[in-house]
Amino acid sequence: MSFLRYARWLVAVALLAGVAALAVFTWEWWRPVAQAQQALPGAPRHGPSHHLPPTKGSEIYQYAYPAVRLPAEQVFDPAPPASTSGPVHEYELVVTEDLQHEVAPGIKVTAWAFNGQVPGPVLRAREGERIRVKLVNNGSLPHTIHFHGVHPADMDGVFELVPPGQSYTYEFVARPYGVFPYHCHSMPASQHIHNGLYGMMIVDPREGRVPMRELAMVMSAFDLDRDGEADFYAWNGKAFQYADHPIQLAVGEKVRMYVLNIFEEIMAPHIHGNMFGLIRSGTALKPGELTDVVSLGIAERAILEFQYDHPGPYMFQCHFSEHMELGLMGWFQVQERAPSTRRQPPRPSAPLDTHAGHPPREAGK
Ligand code: CU
Ligand code: CU
Repeated sequence: MSFLRYARWLVAVALLAGVAALAVFTWEWWRPVAQAQQALPGAPRHGPSHHLPPTKGSEIYQYAYPAVRLPAEQVFDPAPPASTSGPVHEYELVVTEDLQHEVAPGIKVTAWAFNGQVPGPVLRAREGERIRVKLVNNGSLPHTIHFHGVHPADMDGVFELVPPGQSYTYEFVARPYGVFPYHCHSMPASQHIHNGLYGMMIVDPREGRVPMRELAMVMSAFDLDRDGEADFYAWNGKAFQYADHPIQLAVGEKVRMYVLNIFEEIMAPHIHGNMFGLIRSGTALKPGELTDVVSLGIAERAILEFQYDHPGPYMFQCHFSEHMELGLMGWFQVQERAPSTRRQPPRPSAPLDTHAGHPPREAGK
């Protein structure tokens, strides 16, 4: 090979190497830009972009964007019905499939609901007393109610599908005491549950628990664009509602918070500036652990008991950052003394509870 021919080969190889290096450089420079674009609102979110901020919710609503707030009257009242004793606790749960549910300020999703609210009403009885729940199906699909807890097979709400326009009455002795989910079990369950057909059931010990300020908090999520990934996470059905409207507490006020995770991901309820006594599943009278965060898998629940020593705003959140950024956060506004008028938003709609001593309340529409 002549020298000239050898040099030609050298130049050709050098050119090829240069083009390859340029291609790699361009790809490395462009890739983060493309990923960031994928994470923008409306862009499909999948693959590695899943954990890239900003996410849809956090970009719009990070820490309760001041210009858009949920109206106070639409905030879900976190107070469960009082613990009462009676032979039968009667409820009527009406299923509809067309609730325009405002999952975050200005953002509505068509939800399926018990009594027109997401989550459904808190059901409550004492251990050993009967719970009677009439399911009225005003939807277009078969629905059921599946309760957790101990009961006969035909009260389990799996095989007895209730057709549209019909009703079915579940009745069982509430036991054991604890905190339980209830939810629709029609297939596909993922659709029936996560469209909104879920709620909390509290079974109190026969002797009741030490009286405290009580909060019932359901952790869930909403997939608005049906891409298989949640767009908003929420305490009691609405992202950021307790950031827009903090829950008022007082220094020294004893609080019992019932928490239920009904979504397909692990949740980690966490309160700031404090520790809580943890009663897993609510199946003990006294806390067995002092902590400030607990992991709850799907359908797991717990009672958190605490009181604040210092006044001020304290966040309560899911410790998974993405869940918090997309709505699973809020504040306790702890006042120096018990506020004389504790402003509570109205309950969205109350379940029918007709046992002795309680005037019947209007069932949700
Ligand atoms: Cu259903
Ligand atoms: Cu379940």
